[in-house]
Amino acid sequence: MPEASDVVRKEMYELTDRGGRRLALRPEGTAPVVRAYVEHRPTPPWKVWYVAPNFRYERPQRGRYRQHWQLGAEVLGVDDPDVDVEVIALAHGFYRELGLRQFTLLLNSMGTPEERAEYVETLRSYYRSHGDAFGSEFRERAEEHPLRLFDARNEEWQDVIERAPQLTEHLGDDSQRHFERVQRGLDTLGIAYELCPRLVRGFDYYTSTTFEFASDALDAAQNAIGGGGRYDQLAEEMGGPPTPGIGFGIGVERLLIACESEGVGAGEPRGLDAFVIDQLGDGSATVVVDELREAGLRADRAYGGRSMKAQMTMANRAGAAYSVLLARSEAERGAVAVKDMTTGEQIEVPREQAAGWIRARQDERL
Ligand code: HAM
Repeated sequence: MPEASDVVRKEMYELTDRGGRRLALRPEGTAPVVRAYVEHRPTPPWKVWYVAPNFRYERPQRGRYRQHWQLGAEVLGVDDPDVDVEVIALAHGFYRELGLRQFTLLLNSMGTPEERAEYVETLRSYYRSHGDAFGSEFRERAEEHPLRLFDARNEEWQDVIERAPQLTEHLGDDSQRHFERVQRGLDTLGIAYELCPRLVRGFDYYTSTTFEFASDALDAAQNAIGGGGRYDQLAEEMGGPPTPGIGFGIGVERLLIACESEGVGAGEPRGLDAFVIDQLGDGSATVVVDELREAGLRADRAYGGRSMKAQMTMANRAGAAYSVLLARSEAERGAVAVKDMTTGEQIEVPREQAAGWIRARQDERL
């Protein structure tokens, strides 16, 4: 029997609903994607992404919450190591493009389930012969979940744990070749990584390539800003055809902590492109705002027949680049007055051209 993963064993967010049914909130996004694949059988390769909240019954602390969001991507139907490289590079590029620099890509291979089972036995007997002096807690963990000992923090045990046999030394030829090709692919793209034979991910569906992105901005116990790997048997386990898969999940809250710590990210939100000032009260403000938004502009307006001065104050407060004045004299000529809120310059523009006119200038500016 495979070891039950920590998330499934200890962290399921379970509850009983009003009908007395026992439910568990979704802990992660990969199994639901694979379930959708099995049910709908899209043509592989199937490449999908998602942003969704997940729930785990954790002890909450900075960077570890009972509800967290993940941005994830999955590719089903290809076991070519080039896909592993593509998926890892996608996540890596995402962090880089945000401006993050202080993170490390940790890489490992879990081999096939058979190789892993054999390795777990090797590990157990190693711990049996080397951990005798450590007492019952060590012995119990070594018997029940020898892989999880890699995460143990107990100082006394570290020496023995560090010298334990490594899974990557027990991989078969195919797994070894696959893992090497992933590494060569990352080398070719210039993506730096650290081989981390003790990287144990929190789910037991993983096979072959696994990886994590560790940020210096967070405490070591929750420094992963993302992680993922292959799950080549999961579709079959869920009743589907044998279908390899690989993906990652990026933790959005931890990502934001890392961005804040490195002083990068989205920055100040941009103000409005246009604010409509309505002196007509005949419904045309609704139409003009709609036209501006249809043109892809960020537009807003005042409501309730407020004074010209109050509306101008609102336009300023909203940080609008332009105000669009709907006034009697311009309306008679089928026009509006567009004012550049930075320079104070004002010109008359035919009403139906106002959105295009502002759009062209904003495109130039950005
Ligand atoms: P995971 O490593 O459990 O993998 O979660 C992915 C990321 O979600 C973590 O690296 C972390 O950034 C964030 N995260 C996880 N738990 C918490 C929490 N309690 N509070 C805040 N952030 C958290 C998965 O869930 C896999 N489904 C990833 C995957 C996709 N593997 C293959 N495809």
